[in-house]
Amino acid sequence: MLTSFSTVASRNFLRRAASAQRATAKTCFSTSSNVEIEHYTSGWSQEDKDYYTQSGKFQIQTFNKISPKGLARFPADKYEVKGEEFEGGTSHAILLRSHKLQEEEVNVTIRAIARCGAGTNNVPVDRMTELGIPVFNTPGANANAVKELVLCGLLLGSRRIIDGINHMTELGKQGLAKERVEKDKAMFGGREIKGKTLAVIGLGHIGAATARDAAALGMNITGYDPGLSINSALMLPRNISLEDSISAAIADADYISINIPYIKGEGGTHGIIGKDVISHFKSDAVLLNFARGELVDSEALKVFLDSGNGRYISDFPDDLLWDHKNTVLLPHLGASTEEAEDTAAGMAADTIQDYLETGTIKNSVNFPNTALPDRPPNTIRYTVVNKNTPGMLANIAEQFAESKINIVQQINQSRGEVAYNVIDVELGEEVLDLKKLQKDITMLDGVLSSRVIYNNPGVGYARNIDGQYYI
Ligand SMILES: NC(=O)c1ccc[n+]([C@@H]2O[C@H](COP(=O)([O-])OP(=O)(O)OC[C@H]3O[C@@H](n4cnc5c(N)ncnc54)[C@H](O)[C@@H]3O)[C@@H](O)[C@H]2O)c1
Repeated sequence: MLTSFSTVASRNFLRRAASAQRATAKTCFSTSSNVEIEHYTSGWSQEDKDYYTQSGKFQIQTFNKISPKGLARFPADKYEVKGEEFEGGTSHAILLRSHKLQEEEVNVTIRAIARCGAGTNNVPVDRMTELGIPVFNTPGANANAVKELVLCGLLLGSRRIIDGINHMTELGKQGLAKERVEKDKAMFGGREIKGKTLAVIGLGHIGAATARDAAALGMNITGYDPGLSINSALMLPRNISLEDSISAAIADADYISINIPYIKGEGGTHGIIGKDVISHFKSDAVLLNFARGELVDSEALKVFLDSGNGRYISDFPDDLLWDHKNTVLLPHLGASTEEAEDTAAGMAADTIQDYLETGTIKNSVNFPNTALPDRPPNTIRYTVVNKNTPGMLANIAEQFAESKINIVQQINQSRGEVAYNVIDVELGEEVLDLKKLQKDITMLDGVLSSRVIYNNPGVGYARNIDGQYYI
């Protein structure tokens, strides 16, 4: 059940909404041709359509420093990107990285929120769902960065590179580096990865790319992923042997790369690499953990590392294992590349643009994936967010029928407590009062918001907040 809006948070939200609405009259976009388009205004009458297709601009509020390369994907003729200093209260979408978003920062005009990164713990997602606001993330944007560090881990686990560097540093301090450079190399011998077997546990964005590139380096690949996606499957190398359990995948593995999410609680993945799984490791197996520290039972792994020649390479430092001679523990560097930040920001910018301009939903953590083919000529697109309760679709369709408007194409998707509709309607001969229609739809019991999309950046958004109409 959705939490009632009659909460303190909701009352605060309504106060902000009311004050934002009072500001509406003063808030206009000046366009190059000096036509002013009122912000917040649905303002729809078919007679006005030429007026409302004049260019306004979408305003994007950013928090944190977002990669300029990513932000450059917002075309300047349609978008204005504002930093944290912007307090105009007129933004249409929020883009952020780690900023802990407060509900107070989500103005009544906000249609969507995108996080440049995978996690969305810093966004009040449940509350946004109640308010009908989709939250997006950028899954896989950092996959290449992490995969490259996994490949580096393969080499660090095969050759005593770090020990060799440390040894040379010590010798250098004593002025002995050159003298001992050949003599001491026997202390740091290793093995090659070509021809060895890598087991990849979790074949998502990172795991599939790791499997593909390790195969290209001449490795044999086994893998386990009960939720393998089609996109990931297409990336896998031909020679991969897919197994039906972790134990089967690791049975002959010289290297094991774990690339699965950390999920707490029963049925989760806490300590999934524990005593039982480790008992199937070859005695010199190298475990690569660039996923999360909590996936590995450190005590069980220490027993394994103490007893053989196995190794542990990870970017999740560990209090028990940090100084073990058979570990290489790095800071949490997996995704720390400029390119990963650029990619995440670019993906978030594309996602927001798609949603604002076409209503398409992809990579949302609280809304269903939704895509309708391009709006046909001579149509207007409506999007409607509503509570996922029976009869809503019929009620919405009835509003169009009553106005004698022909629906050309539509899609309705739901996820949990929220449903989302994208509906293209025909512009006929008759002049329609589209503003009234939007209000009628938005004020249906159970509808949270609606948009009218017709090449009109910044206008056409309406909300139903506790039975009050906000445009
Ligand atoms: N080191 C870093 O800096 C860094 C950066 C990004 C992500 N990560 C970690 O890497 C993990 C993987 O990232 P991704 O982008 O590839 O995620 P992803 O969602 O694309 O892939 C995860 C895959 O794991 C599979 N999976 C889930 N539970 C499993 C299980 N018990 N056994 C086998 N497979 C299982 C899923 O089906 C999915 O295909 C993330 O969850 C995150 O914890 C680390």
